[in-house]
Amino acid sequence: MKSILILGGDGYLGWPTAVFFSKRGYSVTVVDSYFKRNICKNHNINTLYPTLDLVEKSKIWYDLTGYEIKVVICDLRNHEEMRKLFTSSIKYNFAIDHKFTGIPETVIHYAEQPSAPYSVYDYKSANFTLINNLSVTNNLSWTIKEFDKNIHIIKLGTMGEYGTPNIDIEEGWIDINHKGRTDKFLFPRQASSLYHTTKIMDTDLLWYYVRTWNLKVTDLMQGPVYGNITTDTEIDDRLKTSFHYDEIFGTIINRFLVQAVVDFPLTVYGKGDQIRGYINISDTLQCIYASEKNPPKNGELKIFNQIVETFSVNQIADMIAKAGNEMGIKVKIKKIDNPRKEKEKHYYNPVYKGLKEIGIKPKLMTNEIIKKMIHEVLKYKNNINKDKIFNGIKW
Ligand SMILES: NC(=O)c1ccc[n+]([C@@H]2O[C@H](COP(=O)([O-])OP(=O)(O)OC[C@H]3O[C@@H](n4cnc5c(N)ncnc54)[C@H](O)[C@@H]3O)[C@@H](O)[C@H]2O)c1
Repeated sequence: MKSILILGGDGYLGWPTAVFFSKRGYSVTVVDSYFKRNICKNHNINTLYPTLDLVEKSKIWYDLTGYEIKVVICDLRNHEEMRKLFTSSIKYNFAIDHKFTGIPETVIHYAEQPSAPYSVYDYKSANFTLINNLSVTNNLSWTIKEFDKNIHIIKLGTMGEYGTPNIDIEEGWIDINHKGRTDKFLFPRQASSLYHTTKIMDTDLLWYYVRTWNLKVTDLMQGPVYGNITTDTEIDDRLKTSFHYDEIFGTIINRFLVQAVVDFPLTVYGKGDQIRGYINISDTLQCIYASEKNPPKNGELKIFNQIVETFSVNQIADMIAKAGNEMGIKVKIKKIDNPRKEKEKHYYNPVYKGLKEIGIKPKLMTNEIIKKMIHEVLKYKNNINKDKIFNGIKW
């Protein structure tokens, strides 16, 4: 049985990833500090529906399927806590069998502060984002160097690392010919938030450790994820992953779906011509799985652009409005002053073929999928707090 450690296992992506691998016969341990739950409590943020904590969800998953997901609650900014995960001193907060499962073959690293607005909210949140994100990556790298350099790190980066350059965005790397000589470099990156800047720094850190210690790393430059439906968590509503629609943690499509059902005009920032790459949550799982099955060699940093299609904000708003209107919901769209510092009209042409080459079959954002998501959101319409949708956190 292959063993896998998922850092940030309570998160939007972490929990469905844990269930996915557990269902496919992996021995899974999830780790989380509940940092995000605590921030949400402090900021009075509710998700579309409440979600159970990791221990409760893992118990339900075991009762329903007989598959065990072991749970550890700890803060991975602490190097000693990170080290313990790789030794028999590990303390499970939930397990059927409390015996140490051994050093994992793969670590999936999701444990970061993932919100651009939160990263610029105030000094404290900015400093937290910087220290948290870099410390977890650094602690993980040192621990893997200490215990086993053959462990494959799958790390979530973001397409936001590249920004919106006026040239095609390559898949991680670029060959540069300068004054008659050629070399290969990480593709130039220039983010437009502090959060995204920490992801650039993460990539640099990992690339340094890959070169220096021969680690094996896959860095996935993911676009904003949407949806909450993944086949394995569909068996019981209590297993659903979290769904944020608030300005801090909600990703654009999820926010727009909620705005559509509560008659809150879709908040298009500025001109709405900002283009990004998007991915359905079920494709995120496929991509992680394919990456796990195709590890890099020691001393190799594999980078994939993890998106399946690109849209402008206007296109997304129009698609959601069309689907909503066909369902009898009158959806309005409103252009508002852009609270962010970003180009509103720009060239955008990223390459994203690496994951398809290793077997991903993309799920595109069709009218039918949008309607299915609106239908899902409608079930929880009464939980939606309109005051949390937009307060204009500025950069
Ligand atoms: N969701 C997206 O659209 C998206 C897009 C691109 C990249 N990503 C990246 O994917 C990863 C997962 O994103 P997500 O949307 O699931 O975020 P999330 O906030 O829902 O999940 C991250 C989890 O990590 C935990 N965590 C954070 N710091 C920790 C620490 N020091 N110790 C232990 N646990 C800690 C949080 O409590 C949270 O449960 C992040 O690295 C994010 O940057 C996400």
